[in-house]
Amino acid sequence: TLPVDNVQALASTLSDSDHIPTRYIRPEAESESVITPGDTEDDIPVIDFHKLLDAELSEAESSKLHLACQNWGFFQLINHDVPEEVIQRMMLVIEEFFKLPLDEKMLFKQPPGQVEGYGQMFIFSEEQKLDWADMLFFYTLPLHVRKIGLWPTNPSTFRDALDKYSMEVKKLANCLLGFMAKNLGLDAAEMATMLENGAQRVRINCYPPCPEDKKVLGLSPHSDASFLTLVLQVNDVPGLQIRRNDKWFAVKPLPGAFVANIGDALEILSNGKYKSIEHRAVTNTEKERFSIAAFHGPNTDATIGPHPELVLKGEPLYKSVDYESYMKLYFASKLDGKSFLGRMKL
Ligand code: SIN
Ligand code: FE2
Repeated sequence: TLPVDNVQALASTLSDSDHIPTRYIRPEAESESVITPGDTEDDIPVIDFHKLLDAELSEAESSKLHLACQNWGFFQLINHDVPEEVIQRMMLVIEEFFKLPLDEKMLFKQPPGQVEGYGQMFIFSEEQKLDWADMLFFYTLPLHVRKIGLWPTNPSTFRDALDKYSMEVKKLANCLLGFMAKNLGLDAAEMATMLENGAQRVRINCYPPCPEDKKVLGLSPHSDASFLTLVLQVNDVPGLQIRRNDKWFAVKPLPGAFVANIGDALEILSNGKYKSIEHRAVTNTEKERFSIAAFHGPNTDATIGPHPELVLKGEPLYKSVDYESYMKLYFASKLDGKSFLGRMKL
């Protein structure tokens, strides 16, 4: 990673009439049209986790989930059973951390050559356009991969809050992936084994307001490498947009809900049946926005490839690769729409 400015610090020095550095200006961002909910009948499916677990309602809700995974690749999840208290504590430590003076946050900066810690990711050249955001990033599961020394100790409850959040969200992701496996006609026990020591990574995004908000992007268009990502839009400030029918579609934060999305690894495993959708984040002129993305993948020694059950009647559409090398490749690539997934296609 190359050294780049801290965006929160940069944003705090700008007045409304200041121009922002050209490294952040994205001409393409301004020209693309955005659909906001209400413009169309279409909206992201909402899945009720309690209904999935209910003996009587499960079948219908499960079908709804299957359609969401095939037609949207994204859905909102309500009644998810992650305790309110776990979420509240996590939100609180995030807001407290990002409020700290820069030098105190920098105590937890990414060590050279590493992605974990406080800083930025996917920066490979001096010419590259930069995202209007700072982040914290950690490998949170399996437990033995945690580099706890990189986790902030300010506020003092940060580590404990992230630990609890990580465990609860993992439980939820495993359960959802179980339903998805069943919907795909895969063996739920086989999926459970693949997820037993499954990888989880947590990315905490801080998008400062930007006086030229329409000219920058908070997060470049990309698809996730994971099986399943669960995103919490912490302070309910909108900003997430997904690619749908060749337009950007704004996701309206649903208070208390997780935004769930299919990642590349599940598109690959399902041999294209489930879609990993391109998405991005935009900023606004007024309000700082926070989000927490928890990425879930298989055990690190797993091989990712189209499941044999799902290629019976067709050809495999993607290569098989071991998950470890696959992730290495992802972190060594620039975020660029669905180009990473493209490299996995046969
Ligand atoms: C992400 O794609 O990792 C997060 C998007 C968001 O900030 O909502
Ligand atoms: Fe993402």
